[in-house]
Amino acid sequence: MKRSLIPFSGLYLLFLAACSSPQEPVSIIPQPVEIEYGKGNFKASSEIPIYFQAGNEEIFGIANYLAAFFGPSKINTPLLELNGKKLPGKGIFLLLDPDIENYEGYVLEVSGKRIIIKGGGSQGVFYGIQTLRQMLPGELESPELAENISAITIPRLKVTDYPAFEYRGMHLDVARHFFPVSFIKKYIDLMAMHKMNNFHWHLTEDQGWRIEIKKYPRLTEVGAWRKETLIGHGRQRPFEYDGQPYGGYYTQDEVREVVAYAAARFINVIPEIEMPGHATAALAGYPELGCTGGPYEVITRWGIFEDVFCAGNEQVFTFLEDVLSEVVELFPSALIHIGGDECPKTSWKACPKCQARIREEGLADEYELQSYFIHRIEEFLLTKNRNIIGWDEILEGGLAPQATVMSWRGIEGGIAAARMGQNAIMTPVTHCYFDFYQAEPETQPLAIGGLTTLEKVYSYDPVPEELTEEEARLILGAQGNVWTEYMKTSGHVEYMAYPRAIALAEVVWSPKETRNFEDFSKRLQNHFKRLDVLDVNYFKEPLTE
Ligand code: ACM
Ligand code: ZN
Repeated sequence: MKRSLIPFSGLYLLFLAACSSPQEPVSIIPQPVEIEYGKGNFKASSEIPIYFQAGNEEIFGIANYLAAFFGPSKINTPLLELNGKKLPGKGIFLLLDPDIENYEGYVLEVSGKRIIIKGGGSQGVFYGIQTLRQMLPGELESPELAENISAITIPRLKVTDYPAFEYRGMHLDVARHFFPVSFIKKYIDLMAMHKMNNFHWHLTEDQGWRIEIKKYPRLTEVGAWRKETLIGHGRQRPFEYDGQPYGGYYTQDEVREVVAYAAARFINVIPEIEMPGHATAALAGYPELGCTGGPYEVITRWGIFEDVFCAGNEQVFTFLEDVLSEVVELFPSALIHIGGDECPKTSWKACPKCQARIREEGLADEYELQSYFIHRIEEFLLTKNRNIIGWDEILEGGLAPQATVMSWRGIEGGIAAARMGQNAIMTPVTHCYFDFYQAEPETQPLAIGGLTTLEKVYSYDPVPEELTEEEARLILGAQGNVWTEYMKTSGHVEYMAYPRAIALAEVVWSPKETRNFEDFSKRLQNHFKRLDVLDVNYFKEPLTE
């Protein structure tokens, strides 16, 4: 008897363990604030109704977005309006909950019968769906592979989640190299999956003007095209060019399409119109706006160039106000980026109009002239109910009173802004420049320089230690910058941005105390499978052993 009982009880224990063991932890990036596991699973096949709170267009849009994931699968997801408080039987429920304080926060509860996502605002519901998405089979992300999916299983659990920072950004330079709208949408989709909420679209440069402006057609007729492009690194001598004309731009209809696409994913698009420097492409179209009157050519290599907008010429301000008037019609963003970085003062020093402006306005030097320039643009944009954001050089010569500073040369710009009581967004070259090498340069395609590994990005804390608690509140968040001098293709952009953008997404979303690179790396390995299905050309970082 004894002998036969032992194997039996062993089997019985095994059986019990299988039924009641703690759940296999789900793998979510960015790591949610809290996950509590229950016992058992939500299982569904063939049909999962999606109930959405009645009378809210945004929630209806989100319900459609969720249903689209199941579209190619064998699972039917009818959309049903939910009236009243009582929840019907099985299904996914999308609701707003006024008790959730943060409008981007959500609670996701998975029971045996229901998946309930409650958001502080529609954004919260959307982010709850991004979390749910990562618990669904990766195959659902591909129309071909999804055809084989006929059932889903999700562990019973409760996720309580909200972001650490309100600004979670990714930037893309489409001027050094130009990328089609289809790619911009993919970039936005990837941001949304990682709960990023601001897309900084760098649209104008020395090497190309990329946005249609109706009043100034030569900006794109002339400014969007360069006659050739430098081969190799910008520091290499002698310069060698490819002899291939290069260019492109977005029509205003395309811009509207991108802005709407992003808005449906709760991503604000911040356009950047560079001034007073990095403006040679604009000057090529309208040479009267430069200090010498030109002629100017769209630049064909990488660097900082001396031909900038003339700060002494009233026509320049009329021009920029006209351009920005069209820009604010296209972009609902409360912040408009006006650049402000890397503006050499050489041509202003030699320009009688600029020097006359310095005298008339009682300015001390060309730095104060730049500050005068930015102030004037700020005043204009305030009449349109918009605030300016600029690179940290806008601090030089005096910061415009309501400007947000994008701290890039280090963290000092952000510290200075916060100490002046103004908002800052952190994008220091040391941690947030995804045009830097991500592994030993010998193993990598040509990049601008530097070395910013995934682990280094992950280690970043956007709040500088030297700030008081009150000042720290002015650090709105952080952003990854993708300058594309050395990225000719969208595949190369993905390679440089991913997975570093994912590490940054966790930095700006997840509580600092929960961040752990080893754990992140494990979740990332799992996440790569989803990125594979999505055909993302990420760099597979050699992770820690
Ligand atoms: C910058 O990288 N020039 C802002
Ligand atoms: Zn001038």
